[in-house]
Amino acid sequence: MVHLIDHPLVQHKLTLMRRKDASTRTFRQLLHEVSMLMAYEVLRDIPTQDVEIETPLEHTTGRVIDGKKLVFVSVLRAGTGILDGMLAVVPGARVGHIGLYRDPKTLVAVEYYFKLPGDLDERDVVVVDPMLATGNSAVAAVERLKEARPKSIKFVCLLTCPEGIAAMERAHPDVPIYTAAVDRQLDEHGYIVPGLGDAGDRIFGTK
Ligand code: URA
Repeated sequence: MVHLIDHPLVQHKLTLMRRKDASTRTFRQLLHEVSMLMAYEVLRDIPTQDVEIETPLEHTTGRVIDGKKLVFVSVLRAGTGILDGMLAVVPGARVGHIGLYRDPKTLVAVEYYFKLPGDLDERDVVVVDPMLATGNSAVAAVERLKEARPKSIKFVCLLTCPEGIAAMERAHPDVPIYTAAVDRQLDEHGYIVPGLGDAGDRIFGTK
């Protein structure tokens, strides 16, 4: 299931990010802001608990989330950009990392790092990776995560395309995808077009 986050604020910021003349600083700042806004939608259905509190005027019941029951899993290295924004709104969340790189010739995902918090069976996981392109990394990341048997898994990206969605839906039909846009297609190098280029390079200024 694909959730398209088409809020005008998200679309506005995404458009500014796509521009090739957006600086590293601007791109990173916008990704931070978009990720905070996306978190709002992605976390809409997380559990809350009633708590008794005192306002300056009277006793009342409020609702709170349990941040530590949430795990943001960043697919390195570009996932870091979304992770920062999500942590800004849920500072108590736990964090996992999956290091995957795309072999530039085969586009196959190769794992080089894997670290998750414990007790995942009691936690809801949100995997973050800005670009769901071929789907190879996303499919591999979710496969590895499922070995730890988390309570639930959601996948959040900034941009995707029909090929990436099809790959994820084939391998993990139980994992909802949250995205700000579904672009036209992949090009022959595995880039999303029109896209925004290499998300990692644009976040870190490595090109
Ligand atoms: N990864 C990126 O960073 N950009 C793309 O367009 C596809 C994969």
